[in-house]
Amino acid sequence: MQIHATIAGLRAALKNAGRIALVPTMGNLHEGHIALMRQARAHGDTVVATLFVNRIQFRAGEDFDKYPRTLQADCEKLTAAGVDHLFAPSEAEMYPQPQGCHVVPPAAQDGILEGEFRPGHFTGVATVVMKLFQIVRPAAALFGKKDYQQLIIIRGMVTDLNLPIEIIGGETIRAADGLALSSRNGYLSAQERAEAPRLNRVITGIAAAIRAGNTDFTGLERQATAELTAAGWISDYVAIRKKLDLQWPSAHESGLVVLAAARLGSTRLIDNQEV
Ligand code: PAF
Repeated sequence: MQIHATIAGLRAALKNAGRIALVPTMGNLHEGHIALMRQARAHGDTVVATLFVNRIQFRAGEDFDKYPRTLQADCEKLTAAGVDHLFAPSEAEMYPQPQGCHVVPPAAQDGILEGEFRPGHFTGVATVVMKLFQIVRPAAALFGKKDYQQLIIIRGMVTDLNLPIEIIGGETIRAADGLALSSRNGYLSAQERAEAPRLNRVITGIAAAIRAGNTDFTGLERQATAELTAAGWISDYVAIRKKLDLQWPSAHESGLVVLAAARLGSTRLIDNQEV
């Protein structure tokens, strides 16, 4: 695997790369990322991963400073997964001057769920992803479904801005007890780690109830929130939404997704389940 720290170096190396499949990451890679790398091989002649902890998508007080930087271990995993190129730029390379132009997602998708609790987060994500698209020029890009709203927003950006990039969503990879793999799981204490799978159990329960014909969405959301609260979580949201655009569904609507975000101690976890 070739490793590039500069845009010029990466662009030179990708001159005759053919169809490029891109997997953007912030590093501290786990099996979820690696599954995307393997999947990427089917979508391009050349697989490019990026590793950049993007300051502008973190709010003040979030975990930008403590976000794990594990470059050496990440390189070993990417090499084993058969990735061709890694772009791992410095902050100065990505933001040589304060970012003036931003990609601002539409309020209907940005002002809800994660966007409500992390204002500005998706502007930071969309802006850096747009920059990475300009730098790498991929034909396809892969994002995990664990960050469901991020995937929807990037799909919308690509459509709205006529980018010739196929966006592919990779399935969430889970631990044996159901906890969605996440770089942030490492923040959990042993006791919190034992409790953490409840988030998946709760949304899986809602998905099963909907499949069985329950259309009392508000009741299901309320019950799930109560279960999390009783178990010591601080719930930001448990929401049943339309898969396509994350808006409110009407009763009897199909194509739904159950999304949840909640804090366990100082760690905020998110998860979702398509119905
Ligand atoms: O999902 C992530 O890891 C990040 O939000 C992304 C897409 C790499 C942008 O920084």
